[in-house]
Amino acid sequence: MSDSRAKCHFALVGGVYIDEIHEVAAYPSEDSAIRAASVQRRRGGNVGNSAAVLSQLDAGSVEWVGVVPANGGDGAVAFALDSLHAYNVRTERHERVQGEAIGMPTSMILSSRATGSRTIVSSRRGLRELCAEYFSREVLPALVREHPVLWLHFEGREPGSVARMVAEADRARLAAWRLSVEVEKPTFTPEAVLTLLAGADVAFVSREWVLRNAAALLGGEAASRQRQTERLDDCHLAIATLRALAGRSLAAAKRGSAGVTWVCAWGALGAFALTGVRDEGGRVVETCAVLAAASAVERVVDSVGAGDTFNAAVIASLAAGVGAGEALRAGCLVAGRKVAQAGFDGLT
Ligand code: FRU
Repeated sequence: MSDSRAKCHFALVGGVYIDEIHEVAAYPSEDSAIRAASVQRRRGGNVGNSAAVLSQLDAGSVEWVGVVPANGGDGAVAFALDSLHAYNVRTERHERVQGEAIGMPTSMILSSRATGSRTIVSSRRGLRELCAEYFSREVLPALVREHPVLWLHFEGREPGSVARMVAEADRARLAAWRLSVEVEKPTFTPEAVLTLLAGADVAFVSREWVLRNAAALLGGEAASRQRQTERLDDCHLAIATLRALAGRSLAAAKRGSAGVTWVCAWGALGAFALTGVRDEGGRVVETCAVLAAASAVERVVDSVGAGDTFNAAVIASLAAGVGAGEALRAGCLVAGRKVAQAGFDGLT
C-alpha cells in the first residue's frame, strides 16, 4: 500500500562548527605536552551533526538554518556547507554576517582512546548567533509557504533569541508542524527553559542540565541525592527533576491540551522520556516516564556528536508517528552505532 501522506521536511536551526578532533591515548594532565595519534577536521555543531544523521535516516528532506561569516572564514564556510551538501542537507536559508575580524566557529576536541571521552574547547570566533528578526523575516514565511508537514528543531543557544523564534514559529505553525528544542547548556535557568519551551512539542534536555538544576527544582535533600545520581547508576532523581520542570510547564501551559514530551539521554545508561497523561477532557495533567537502555558498544571510538545523533534518530522516529519508547530505542541504537565508529557516515 502506498503512503499518501506528504513526507516531512526537517528544518534544524542552530550552530555549525569546524571540529578539529585530536585523538590522544589518554587525556593529558595540565601543563604537559603530548602527541596526538590522529587529527581529523570535520564539520560539527549540534544541529549540523543532527542534520547529517537525519538525512541518512530517510525520514524526509532536511535543511540547516544558521549563521556563517560573510567573509568565508578562510574557506571554512565552504568546507562546512559542502559537508552538509554531501549529506543532501540544504543550506540556502542561512544568514551571512558581515565583519572582517569574525571567523567560522571552531572547536578543538580531545578524544581519549582510554575512556572514549571527548573534551571540547569551542569558540564562536566573534560570530554572533542567528538573529531572531532574520528568522522571522526570511526563514519562517518560506517554511510556511513550502512545507505543510514540517519538523522544526531549535538548538537552544541564546535563550532570549531562541525563545523568540520558537514563539514566532508556534504562532505561525500549520496543523502538521511539530516544534522541538534542545536544552544543552547547564547554565540556562529553569525559568529560561520554560520560556524557551512555551511553544514546543518536544524538549531534549541534557544530562548536564538536569544534574546542575536538580537542587533548584527539587530543593531540600536534592543536593546530596544529586551526588548519588552522578554515580550514573540511577536516573530516578533525574526523572524527578524533569518531572518537576514538566509540572511547572503544565501549570504555565496556555494551550489546554498541549504538553511537552521531555527527552533526556543518560549516557551509557540509555535514555528516558516523560510524556503527557491526559484527563477525560483531553488536557495534559501529569507525566508518565518511559525508559530505554543504551545499546551495547564494545569500544567507544568517537563520541563527538553522540547526543546530536541520538536527537536526530528520536526526531525521525517521532515524526514517523511512533511512541516515545520506540523513539528512545531508535535514538539509543543509532547513537550506539555512532560511538562505535569515527564520524557520521553509514549510520543506517
Ligand atoms: C558536538 C558538537 C561539536 C561542536 C560542539 C559545539 O555535540 O556539536 O561538533 O564542535 O559540539 O558546541
